[in-house]
Amino acid sequence: MAKTLNLTLKVWRQENREAKGRIETYAAKDIPVDASFLEMLDIVNEGLVKEGKDPIHFDHDCREGICGMCSLTINGIPHGPERQVTTCQLHMRKFKDGDTIWIEPFRAKAFPILRDLMVDRSALDRIIASGGYIDVRTGSAPNANNIAVEKVKAEAAFDAAACIGCGACVASCKNASAMLFTSAKIAHLN
Ligand code: FES
Repeated sequence: MAKTLNLTLKVWRQENREAKGRIETYAAKDIPVDASFLEMLDIVNEGLVKEGKDPIHFDHDCREGICGMCSLTINGIPHGPERQVTTCQLHMRKFKDGDTIWIEPFRAKAFPILRDLMVDRSALDRIIASGGYIDVRTGSAPNANNIAVEKVKAEAAFDAAACIGCGACVASCKNASAMLFTSAKIAHLN
């Protein structure tokens, strides 16, 4: 397998909420197969900045699959082609040399586009805020490692906490139904 990829990117660019967006084409050259999808965008952006052009704006935070900020639609699929993996955990080895990749923001009425690939997800924040939050003394990290928990219970706890609030369920739903997110959060917060 080639160690680097040359790709064509079709990227959604939009100056602000009100602007009319459009797809622009970029060449992503010599992308290491071990780079993450966001690192690939970093490389493309470095090139754009060197040329004095506006970099592609996109959201991210942890880059560890935890925070849910990396909300891209890749080839028409929220978070891209790999199942149960966030955009930041998707790696370029999943693509082939010469591929054309379409990169858009999450598409849902509830997610107005702020700029390029960044969307406003405060509607989901409001759902979480209206559901309240819990404040429970659950111990520190060493406790988590030292207290033996039955596998069945540990799996059930992980399942309940699996929602990272990224909003991909809303972006995947043809009706963009926030009920998916709300029900996931009700299970999680309970
Ligand atoms: S950047 Fe945090 S889940 Fe992707």
